[in-house]
Amino acid sequence: MEQVQGKIAFITGGASGIGFGMAQAFGEAGMKLVIADVDVERRTAAIDALSKNGFDCHGVDLDVRSAASWTAAADLAEARFGAIDILCNNAGIGQGRRTDGTRLLLEATDEELFRLVFDINVTGVFLGARTFVPRMVARGGAGHIVNTGSMAGLIAPPGLATYSASKYAVTALSESLRAELADRHIGVSVLCPGGVQSRLETTSAERRNQQLGSGYDRETGFLSDRPINPEMMDPIAVGRHVLRAIRNNDLYIFPHPEYVDLIAERFAAIQRNIGLSAQDGYTDPDWLLAASRNPAYS
Ligand SMILES: NC(=O)c1ccc[n+]([C@@H]2O[C@H](COP(=O)([O-])OP(=O)(O)OC[C@H]3O[C@@H](n4cnc5c(N)ncnc54)[C@H](O)[C@@H]3O)[C@@H](O)[C@H]2O)c1
Repeated sequence: MEQVQGKIAFITGGASGIGFGMAQAFGEAGMKLVIADVDVERRTAAIDALSKNGFDCHGVDLDVRSAASWTAAADLAEARFGAIDILCNNAGIGQGRRTDGTRLLLEATDEELFRLVFDINVTGVFLGARTFVPRMVARGGAGHIVNTGSMAGLIAPPGLATYSASKYAVTALSESLRAELADRHIGVSVLCPGGVQSRLETTSAERRNQQLGSGYDRETGFLSDRPINPEMMDPIAVGRHVLRAIRNNDLYIFPHPEYVDLIAERFAAIQRNIGLSAQDGYTDPDWLLAASRNPAYS
């Protein structure tokens, strides 16, 4: 999508952090903005700030975990601006940081927390695609979808298993969906950021405490608040980087190239363990190999 002026973007989690950075960058480029977020107060503040910058924007209520909420939000957005050109499935939560600074091991992770992270980070992206792809296809394609994954969607450090697993799922959804939509002229990208200034710790705690009980963080020893870290990347820079990638129809969006060696280490580990066939002389048939190939990689 080279021409973005006048296009309409629907951004989940658009009230804060990376989503808000994308909104600002897209607004600068003359796009119309739908800010979809579960947080009414921050959404209203975001709309105020974007309007003051002269951007044409509209807020809609959305909980990405709910199919009904997606349909209602999409209908409202289309009633205001018409068909959506760009969907940014960006809303997400972290798995939480412990107050004592120790890592949250998988064996100590509550089942409800694991399910909540997957519900927002993975089911949310699935429902976004389920809602908007048929609408984009119905009007002849020419749309773009950006799913916010993470560097943790390509490498899985210890103490981050739940979050990483959810973000690996976002990477896989994006890669497969891109190939599924290629002949319908809808691009798909996965945004894989490293550290970005945002409220992720705070908004994740809000979701945990709202869904799992108001005392959840206190009882399980999680941080409920964390100031925005000024050392991290500016979200507007991420937003502008995303815009370039949409124009270029890139599959992967890497605002932080310094992670390349860590990604290479993972691929090297995979290659080291690929050796001889478990069954002497056996190879899978060509049809199975062909069905396993993703043309989006080449
Ligand atoms: N900040 C980073 O360093 C970083 C790095 C890699 C990936 N990410 C990813 O970026 C995305 C955006 O996070 P951020 O860092 O900008 O955090 P943020 O907390 O500033 O923004 C997240 C927004 O998502 C909204 N949200 C949360 N649950 C929701 C739900 N169920 N329905 C609708 N909206 C919901 C929140 O209200 C908030 O406005 C997330 O998917 C996160 O995993 C962040």
